[in-house]
Amino acid sequence: MKLIVAVDEKWGIGKNGDLLLSIPDDMLYYRATTRGKVVVMGYTTLLSLPGSKPAPGRLNLVLADIEGLRIPGAVVSGSMEQLIRLIGCFAPDDVFDVGGGSMYRQLMPYCSGAHITKMRFDGAADTFIPNLDREPGWSVKSESEQKEHEGVYYSFTEYSNNAPKEIPAAKNLSSSMTSYFRKREPIEPTLPADADDAYRKKLDAMLDAYYHPLKDGFSAEDVERYFEEGGDLSFEQYLKNIGAIAAREDIEALLAAK
Ligand SMILES: NC(=O)c1ccc[n+]([C@@H]2O[C@H](COP(=O)([O-])OP(=O)(O)OC[C@H]3O[C@@H](n4cnc5c(N)ncnc54)[C@H](OP(=O)(O)O)[C@@H]3O)[C@@H](O)[C@H]2O)c1
Repeated sequence: MKLIVAVDEKWGIGKNGDLLLSIPDDMLYYRATTRGKVVVMGYTTLLSLPGSKPAPGRLNLVLADIEGLRIPGAVVSGSMEQLIRLIGCFAPDDVFDVGGGSMYRQLMPYCSGAHITKMRFDGAADTFIPNLDREPGWSVKSESEQKEHEGVYYSFTEYSNNAPKEIPAAKNLSSSMTSYFRKREPIEPTLPADADDAYRKKLDAMLDAYYHPLKDGFSAEDVERYFEEGGDLSFEQYLKNIGAIAAREDIEALLAAK
């Protein structure tokens, strides 16, 4: 698992439940990095998304301490223990911690890396994450050149953690849509930098078709039922079997129709 976040010069990430600044280039970077993957977030962050709805084209896992909560399009987890077990159902490279503050702090020890967008300004934040330059085990892997948006300089920095805490892996891992697409030609999971609008729309439509059927939502109690009754089925296969996400044949049909 990796985390992805935009920080100001004090490692502030949010204020009044919202982002400090929205940089279009950073939003594109975020979307390209997490497209087709599993995104893990706290309930407050879900509520801050457009329409308070799960991000399309991604499998959304939401941690919320509310019994019986169902969020259309998302899987709810009721405790950190359950969430960690659920994260272990996916290949580590397919999972992103997308915030907010409480999720970054709790899951940081389990992350093998971090995509940090560093914004050179003070956003007077009320929510912060630990400064990775001072965290033992964390070091900078790469840093982009500086860019500028409306007077604010920013860069994309990648950190790696040399000793992440292990998350026990499930017997059968779920493949993300990304790895599914990777096997196909000519569909590429990661959007090429020069992708045109038509290409982008096609990729998004396929990802939506895959995850959208999770329309009734999947509660923490449903997750528990999977752990109890799912046997050796991967979480993805279980969701398909109960009709919560699209079956591969439906995607094939959609692709054939395009
Ligand atoms: N800059 C960025 O890239 C970025 C990205 C994402 C979010 N943000 C910002 O971060 C801020 C939100 O962060 P936040 O820390 O306030 O909220 P958060 O992490 O998004 O979500 C907190 C929610 O998760 C639940 N939760 C957390 N740990 C739990 C646990 N162990 N067990 C059960 N439930 C748990 C909390 O329930 P309880 O209340 O019951 O504890 C609460 O409902 C916003 O300002 C947002 O805009 C910034």
